[in-house]
Amino acid sequence: MSLTPIGEPRHKITVASLREKKAHHEPITCLTAYDYATARLVDEAAIDVILVGDSLAQTMLGYENTLSVTVDEMLHHTRAVRRGVKHAFLIADMPFGSFHVTAVQNAARFVKEGGAEAVKVEGGEKRADLIRRVIDAEIPVAGHIGLTPQSVNVMGGYKVQGKSLQAIEQLMRDAVALDRAGVACLYLEGIPREVAAMITAEVTTPTIGIGAGPDCDGQVLVIHDVLNLTFGPPAKFVRRYADAAALISDAVQSFRADVLSHQYPSDNESYHLPKDTQQVLEDVMERKQTFRR
Ligand code: KIV
Repeated sequence: MSLTPIGEPRHKITVASLREKKAHHEPITCLTAYDYATARLVDEAAIDVILVGDSLAQTMLGYENTLSVTVDEMLHHTRAVRRGVKHAFLIADMPFGSFHVTAVQNAARFVKEGGAEAVKVEGGEKRADLIRRVIDAEIPVAGHIGLTPQSVNVMGGYKVQGKSLQAIEQLMRDAVALDRAGVACLYLEGIPREVAAMITAEVTTPTIGIGAGPDCDGQVLVIHDVLNLTFGPPAKFVRRYADAAALISDAVQSFRADVLSHQYPSDNESYHLPKDTQQVLEDVMERKQTFRR
């Protein structure tokens, strides 16, 4: 297994290199990003796949769920991320309602206008035909099964999926149908690790898990979860690697305190007149004073 260390020259990640990683049991890393600065940092940290997830509805736009985000909003963020990504494989999420009837047209917008290299579509075997049509239009597609947040109203909340034998059978059918349709990779969300392991062993496409245990071919997390920017208790599978909320909050409070106490800005943080202009100005002021006296 050859892991590319951070800072080493990197190859562009493609659909083929994701498959190679699966073949060589090299874990695939994926994070979400929704803006230029984060995308640059994630890309420069040698993460393989960057996903402009529709989770941005919640993390960036403050909506309660992912259902209301539009194609235009997703495109706005995808374009910003595109500008920050050099090596990672860039996937954009197709939001709720954007693929049921107009999959190819909307998927093409993510490629042409957003610069995405693939689109992600939530749903199992029911989506296989439309996914095939998008792939036939030369657009790679990532599948997404298990706890699919766009189905929140059908699921009756965000619940772990695939717990009964019947549900496991359905998940296996979903995974195999999407694999046969030719998905570039398959996101497995919120399912028991045993089921994720079975799916990963069964399909040829790389699986990328979130709340699906360690036996997937790769792992994805939402960057706001990683950084503690979600304002709520984390899900069981979330590991927080930093506390950006505390960092931002401390910085903002320090700025406020410095302004209120006249400690910001200092003379060093101010622009100054050129010396000769300053001299002329002082002479003028002095003459004015003399005249007034
Ligand atoms: O929208 C998103 O961030 C996702 C990931 C959690 C897979 O779909």
